[in-house]
Order: sequence, then C-alpha cells, then structure tokens
Amino acid sequence: MKRVLITGANGQLGLALQDAAKDSNLEIVFMNKSSLDITNAEEVNKVFATQPFDVCINAAAYTEVDGAETNKALAYAINATAVETLAKVCKQQQCWLIHISTDYVFDGTLDGLYTPADAPNPLNVYGASKLAGEQAIQAVGGTYSIVRTSWLYSHYGNNFYTKLIAQVNAGKTLRVTADQKGCPTRAEDLSAHLLKGIANQQLAKGISHYCGSEVMTWLDLARRLFPEQEVLEWGGANSNTVRPKKVVLKDNNS
Ligand SMILES: NC(=O)c1ccc[n+]([C@@H]2O[C@H](COP(=O)([O-])OP(=O)(O)OC[C@H]3O[C@@H](n4cnc5c(N)ncnc54)[C@H](OP(=O)(O)O)[C@@H]3O)[C@@H](O)[C@H]2O)c1
Repeated sequence: MKRVLITGANGQLGLALQDAAKDSNLEIVFMNKSSLDITNAEEVNKVFATQPFDVCINAAAYTEVDGAETNKALAYAINATAVETLAKVCKQQQCWLIHISTDYVFDGTLDGLYTPADAPNPLNVYGASKLAGEQAIQAVGGTYSIVRTSWLYSHYGNNFYTKLIAQVNAGKTLRVTADQKGCPTRAEDLSAHLLKGIANQQLAKGISHYCGSEVMTWLDLARRLFPEQEVLEWGGANSNTVRPKKVVLKDNNS
C-alpha cells in the first residue's frame, strides 16, 4: 500500500482530500500547518527522514491573492522556497511530489485554451510566487506532477462558496463581480482525481491541467450555486490587484 503525505491538510483542498481519503486504499498521513510548517526546512527534512513516503501531495500554499501584494516575502517563502525544499527532499527520498498550481500563472491574453506548453506570464505576486514554485520543482527534478487548477470551490474551508453561504445566512443580498471568466473546479473532483491518479499511477508526470468543464464568471457561478437567491452583479472593484480577465485551461483529462 502506498504511503502518502498530504501537507496543508486544513485548507480547502486538504479538507476535501481528507474526505476523499475515506474511499481510497492509500495510507495517508495528513499534516496541517501546526504539525508541519513547510517553510521550516529542518522540520520537513526530519519528517521525511523518520517516515518513508511514496508520494507527497503539497496542498499547502499562500493563497491570498490580494494579501500577496503586500506580503510578497511570505508568499514566496511558502509558494516557492518551501516548495523547493519539498522537491529536494522528495527527490532524495525517491518520493513522487504532487504539487498544486494555478491558472494565475497565465495573463489571460490567449484567445483559446491554455495548454501546459503555453508560456506563463503571471500578472500578480500570487501568480508569480506560484510560478516560482513550479520552476523550483522543475529545476530540482525527481519524480513530480504539477497540477494546475482554477477557481476551486467546495463546502470546505474559506472560499467563494463558503463566503457566499455566510452572507446568505446573515440575510445579505449577494453581489458578485462578472469581470473575470474561468473554469470553476470542485475541490472534491480535484481530490478524487489526485487520489485515483496515485492509486492507478495514471496521474500525469510533469505539468498538467485539471479544471471544471464550463467557462463562466463568478456571477454565473453564484447564480448556479444559489438558484433560490437573488444575486446582483457587483460592478465595483473588489480589489486593486491585477487579475487575468479570462483563463481557460485545457484540461488534460477531458
Ligand atoms: N482556491 C483557489 O481558487 C485555487 C485556484 C487555483 C489553484 N489553487 C491552488 O490549490 C492549492 C490548494 O488551495 P486551497 O484553496 O486549498 O487553499 P487554502 O484553503 O488557502 O489552503 C492552503 C492551506 O495551506 C496552509 N499553509 C499556509 N502556509 C503553510 C505553511 N507554511 N506550512 C504548511 N501549511 C501552510 C494554510 O494554513 P493557514 O490557512 O492556517 O495559513 C491552509 O490550510 C494551492 O496550491 C493553491 O495555490 C487554488
């Protein structure tokens, strides 16, 4: 039975993986930020030195897109330097590193579907820090899968869907922007894809894309998720951070 380490286990994807793990025949060790801070290289090396792992899914990340603009050093420490540490120890221990990356490595100017062969050009610090993590893994080498995804949502953690639920519960009218397009992806689907891909060894090595099959705006998604609610278009800017207007990943699996 394969032994799998999952970092960032209390995040949205980490929690979805915890649920998906109930149906898998993998032996999975979940570590959250308190049990393993991936920026602590000594701790990371100690964990791998004391326990053998066949696979490591890195679900830990700095994901605050606006926050990264002012916390650049922290974003890079978590999304790039710590990822390099994981890549090095995984290579040394012959452990398959599965790392999650983002559609925000692209600028959104391509009129079509982005494939892994398309040139990245992140527009903001979050995207740049995630790209730096990808590049660190590629430079280290070893066995790795970098899975880019987009617009993750689920019942777990803090995300678009759970934020809207909180507003509905507070009796607020939902107001959502419609100035970006992307492919919303259920964290549950990504989790199942990853665990299945480990079990059957079919998860693509190198860089691959995994995302939901429909292109839409956040407003479209909100209306889809809350059909009973009135959802108004929010025309005001939610943030000053530059974001790609439209990124459609070509899902390698569809
Ligand atoms: N959410 C999206 O829409 C989206 C879209 C595309 C790609 N992705 C990628 O998908 C992956 C999973 O995202 P997510 O939505 O699950 O994000 P998330 O909910 O923010 O989860 C990230 C987790 O990493 C933890 N973490 C932060 N720093 C850490 C450290 N130094 N050591 C260990 N854990 C640390 C966080 O803990 P704290 O919260 O306590 O800091 C959090 O539990 C990320 O790589 C992200 O870049 C996400």
